[in-house]
Amino acid sequence: MRDTPWCSATNALDCDEDRLVATSIRQQLRAGSAPRDAEFDQLLCVAHRKLSANFWTPVEVALVVARWFEASRASSVLDIGAGIGKFCAIGAVATSATYFGIERREVLAESAVSLAEKLGVGDRVRVLVGELGVVAAPRTDAIYCFNPFGEHLFSDGEVLDESIVRSVARYRHDAALVTQMLRDADVGAVFCTYNGFGGKIPRCYELLRCRTDFSCPLRLWRKTRLHRGEPELPEEEFAELELLDSWNDVCSIEAHR
Ligand SMILES: C[S@@+](CC[C@H](N)C(=O)[O-])C[C@H]1O[C@@H](n2cnc3c(N)ncnc32)[C@H](O)[C@@H]1O
Repeated sequence: MRDTPWCSATNALDCDEDRLVATSIRQQLRAGSAPRDAEFDQLLCVAHRKLSANFWTPVEVALVVARWFEASRASSVLDIGAGIGKFCAIGAVATSATYFGIERREVLAESAVSLAEKLGVGDRVRVLVGELGVVAAPRTDAIYCFNPFGEHLFSDGEVLDESIVRSVARYRHDAALVTQMLRDADVGAVFCTYNGFGGKIPRCYELLRCRTDFSCPLRLWRKTRLHRGEPELPEEEFAELELLDSWNDVCSIEAHR
């Protein structure tokens, strides 16, 4: 495991227009309302704006997750594959938690730090440049994944850029690293996925919340007890089982009324 320096900002010099946008976004997020993505994305460079719809968490989703984590009393959050830091910056503005990101593409990690500084939360957003499993990720109360390894399964025109060698084996390997982090997490830790992460979830987790009204499924899991080496289930399969269980609970509650 390599110990990598934290990323620092290179282009946080914002113009007056940026400052106005940042102030408006901060005010909206702190008041609990979600600015439109097009408004938020004005803080990004044009190239990163174009990637927003497919690769960065929508503002509304990030705000919901930040509130879920806050309600779970998470004071530290790790975004695996932080991109330009949209999720981290929104969470840090909307709550008092500290957000950590790990991002393999240096140019994106630098933008993540700049974005946090523009929004006045540079002290609570820290970004590691490097790959999961290669650099040591901080241990946090909460972990977030927006399908970070999906690019290994995409075809040529669908990827963020052509800078990485894609492979199914690598996809499985990276997803397995996240499963290992879930096994090792403290009891009470929470894990949120937006559009999944491609791996298995240990049975010591329970599905706390699930929303299907966004473009992709959003799920919140919580570790309820120590991992005892029992079999793990692919996230989709586990979520369906859990939803079925809670549906049965609702039915049995209603039957006994
Ligand atoms: C779909 S984007 C999500 C960005 C951000 N989490 C958000 O929600 O706005 C996935 C990001 O994960 C990064 N990534 C993919 N595999 C990674 C790995 N093994 N280690 C670190 N970052 C990775 C990609 O470079 C990309 O920026």
